[in-house]
Amino acid sequence: MPDITLTIDDTPVTVPAGTTLLKAAEQIGAEVPTICYHEHCTANGLCRMCVVEVEGQRLLQPACIVPAAEGMKVKTRSEKVERSRRTIVEMLHSAVDLSEAPEIQQHLSDYGADRERFPGAHRREYAVHDDNPMYVRDYDKCILCWRCVQVCANDAQYTFALSFDGRGYETGIGTFFDKLMPETSCVFCGQCVGVCPTNALKPKREWLLDQGKTPDEILALTRTERRRRRG
Ligand code: SF4
Ligand code: FES
Repeated sequence: MPDITLTIDDTPVTVPAGTTLLKAAEQIGAEVPTICYHEHCTANGLCRMCVVEVEGQRLLQPACIVPAAEGMKVKTRSEKVERSRRTIVEMLHSAVDLSEAPEIQQHLSDYGADRERFPGAHRREYAVHDDNPMYVRDYDKCILCWRCVQVCANDAQYTFALSFDGRGYETGIGTFFDKLMPETSCVFCGQCVGVCPTNALKPKREWLLDQGKTPDEILALTRTERRRRRG
């Protein structure tokens, strides 16, 4: 593949054609924050945290999906970029429980986010889905990054147990026809739990420990559940 030369924060960098701005920035040590992006998932440019300013372009560009082009001049920390990233984390904070999302909490601090900027915003609230012995789903904490859906589908497991549900503000992640997880094609591989950045998906044992259960109580609960499932 031919090489491409561009400048990022005034530093020239040469990368193979097809390299994203995110990867090109990494090459010169320029830090671009990400939220929905995961090294092992298909990037979809959903959260817009990674936006950068490209000279001559009116709109900020999501670095995780936009490929580098010859002669591009990119700024990763301009005032416009920082303002946009700050607004994104402020909006996320207003709608989602980020208490178990340490990386996003860090972004809130790094970008000097005003946690009260959208005081009247409606926090998304759902009942915890506790329908299987392996993991729970607490969609109050879901930022709709789509990673779990992707690893459950073509990015890894090909089981297609998870999907988007609803529209607009009511969009959420769920099972097809809202079925209980054991009634879906889920094989409990745990990959969705592994890629979730906010603990919306959490191993059941960890969740029970959070609820104050002791290891002995968890063992007893597990045995009871196993007996119940055997009928
Ligand atoms: S449950 Fe987790 S991995 Fe899935 S979309 Fe929500 S935040 Fe992302
Ligand atoms: S990290 Fe690029 S759009 Fe989310």
